[in-house]
Amino acid sequence: MTGCAGPFPQSTLSPHSDFGRAIDGVFTGIFWWAAGVFVVVEALLIVALIRFRHREGRPAPKPTHGHTVLEVAWTLAPAVILVFVAVPTVRTIFATAGEAAPDALKVEVIGHQWWWEYKYPDLGIVTANEMHLPVGTPVEVSITSADVIHSFWAPALGGKRDAIPGHVNRIAFRAEAAGDYAGQCAEFCGASHANMRLRVLVEPDAAFQGWVETERAGPAVPAKGSLAERGKAVFSRNACLGCHTIQGVSPGIIGPNLTHVGSRTTLAGGMFPNDSAHLASWIADAPSLKPGSLMTRMKPPLTDADIAAVIAYLQSLK
Ligand code: CUA
Repeated sequence: MTGCAGPFPQSTLSPHSDFGRAIDGVFTGIFWWAAGVFVVVEALLIVALIRFRHREGRPAPKPTHGHTVLEVAWTLAPAVILVFVAVPTVRTIFATAGEAAPDALKVEVIGHQWWWEYKYPDLGIVTANEMHLPVGTPVEVSITSADVIHSFWAPALGGKRDAIPGHVNRIAFRAEAAGDYAGQCAEFCGASHANMRLRVLVEPDAAFQGWVETERAGPAVPAKGSLAERGKAVFSRNACLGCHTIQGVSPGIIGPNLTHVGSRTTLAGGMFPNDSAHLASWIADAPSLKPGSLMTRMKPPLTDADIAAVIAYLQSLK
């Protein structure tokens, strides 16, 4: 029930893309066939229970053997129903196999323990956890993994597709309504599988173009003497730079790209809102918030003043 909350519930029963509606159509068709079978079978069962139940002084009902018409009927009827189930199912399997329009926007998804990396090869953008898409535009999502098998799934839009190391799976879809779509990893992938969430932010064209411009620009440069500038220095002399890319500042590629982390709404694979309090706890001790997090505790730990400076810097990276 909690999954049904909000205007864009994390549910395949609330489809907002061509892919989502195709899956929903198969589900609805099969549901009604199954409902029909249930009603007929239960009705026959109830009739049999009442009509043939034991009564004092009555002989046992006579069994029927070799009733050709009955036997042909109960073989043919399920076969016909299975055809009505199989044809739309197979048709949908082919329709959702990942063939995209040639002009589709390409997005590469790379699953990591436990966050999502997104690359837009034609736009030169690398980001994490929050995928931005323009509404009404065909997109082709290529999915792979950097470590173990994950599964990319934003139920209202389409999927799910496994993210397999050394292999690329594809989905193609067209989001039909702007909105903030929740999703998550759908394949058990270790201690924080349940904490590997994602968001797909589907935006009108102008908003999407604005986001593209922001992402393609270099990182913000903090003002001289500001707390953010101190934070940049702290970031650059600690382990942060070994794992995170900030364009022109640090080259790490193990963790999420932070060039525009200040513009993201969530942290840590969609677990927390991107605010000062959560950033502070995260930087100080990530594994206590997210079991198994590869972002270990800093040794020696950063001082509170250093953490505050790093937060100011990260928040300035809009
Ligand atoms: Cu990644 Cu489960």
